[in-house]
Amino acid sequence: MAENYDIDTLAIHAGTEADPATGARQVPIYQSTSYQFRDADHAARLFNLQEVGYIYSRLTNPTVSALQNRVAALEGGAGAVCCSSGHAAQLLALFPLMGPGKNIIASTRLYGGTVTQFSHTIKRFGWSAKFVDLDDMDALRDAIDDDTRAIFCESISNPGGYVTDIPAVAKVADDAGIPLIVDNTLATPFLCRPIGMGATLVVHSLTKFMTGNGTVTGGVVVDSGKFDWSASDKFPSLSAPEPAYHGLKFHETFGALAFTFHGIAIGLRDLGMTMNPQGAHYTLMGIETLGLRMPRHVENAQKVAEWLEKDARVTSVTYAGLASSPWHQTAARLYPKGAGSLFTFSIKGGYDAAVKLVDSLELFSHVANLGDARSLVIHSASTTHRQLTEDQQRAAGAAPEVLRLSIGIENPDDLIADLDQALSKATA
Ligand SMILES: Cc1ncc(COP(=O)(O)O)c(C=O)c1O
Repeated sequence: MAENYDIDTLAIHAGTEADPATGARQVPIYQSTSYQFRDADHAARLFNLQEVGYIYSRLTNPTVSALQNRVAALEGGAGAVCCSSGHAAQLLALFPLMGPGKNIIASTRLYGGTVTQFSHTIKRFGWSAKFVDLDDMDALRDAIDDDTRAIFCESISNPGGYVTDIPAVAKVADDAGIPLIVDNTLATPFLCRPIGMGATLVVHSLTKFMTGNGTVTGGVVVDSGKFDWSASDKFPSLSAPEPAYHGLKFHETFGALAFTFHGIAIGLRDLGMTMNPQGAHYTLMGIETLGLRMPRHVENAQKVAEWLEKDARVTSVTYAGLASSPWHQTAARLYPKGAGSLFTFSIKGGYDAAVKLVDSLELFSHVANLGDARSLVIHSASTTHRQLTEDQQRAAGAAPEVLRLSIGIENPDDLIADLDQALSKATA
């Protein structure tokens, strides 16, 4: 597939072709756990990573491979590894880079579940995270030490919809000789392609805008193929001999695909957070309409955010598409197709009014998800961000008086009318 096709074309064609066995035009759901070897030598070559092919669906599956190739093309990466959720993708991305005593620098503006994963769960592996405001490049540089193995940020952040200056952060990562990992879930490659801005790895929760209709839980790690894993001794999993494969060195052997091969041959093999072929199929179907959905999401979000900002019952709106946002200039420069469709707003009456508003909305669904065709609302402080301290909630843009909206692709006037009636009830 020609890399210079437009993203709308890649979203439909990349990574797939008519099924070689049957001519089926859509990618079949290969509901098979295992794949028959041609002979004993073929099996041995596959297990030795001397030949690429299908062995067992914990590692690779043709439907999942099609999705991997499509997302890699959309992101401009060398390869991709799909897995069972966005959170799994984050662990899969860190796994080859980290070891006991190693740390990552993580943005303070991240999805609450990621803050929890990085603050608590990764410590059980002996890893740790330092949370830094990534608008402050001096603080970022100061936080990096000899044990730092990556910088992690979201392109557009959940829940505030703030945007990250990826080229500036990538420059610091580059100077330090460590990879930048960007969670591109909220932007999708339609609004932002982090690899072109210097990111090494891109992760997604495919659960959100990529599938686009709330039917799948999935994740992916995309590798730019550009990082020199052998330039230092910091990344032995990729540069040093791998005992489980007779001393094979992933970077030396697979070059730009080292991270991808490691993600499958070690990551999925041993951690087992595999995506299922049905999930991959639904996600492929969803991605086909990415180029139609994302402009509508952005247009609707802009209209709703502008309406909310003018309303006297509303005290603040965070959308980076608004001129009042401190991130407006960065968004206009780096995200010219729009700042996504997720943002927060706060209303007069604080916590109690916020909860009443959630209960009064009729068209918006009160769910712990985002990136659906339908509009969604959640009170983050009492749900997705409730494990965090109030300081962490405020840093993440999820203070007690704040509500998060994920604007769908309905008629925006209907969405505004629903917000209007709910605001009246909440602030009466
Ligand atoms: C920005 C972001 N990254 C990662 C995740 C985790 O994804 P998943 O729920 O698919 O594990 C989420 C979930 O809401 C998210 O919003």
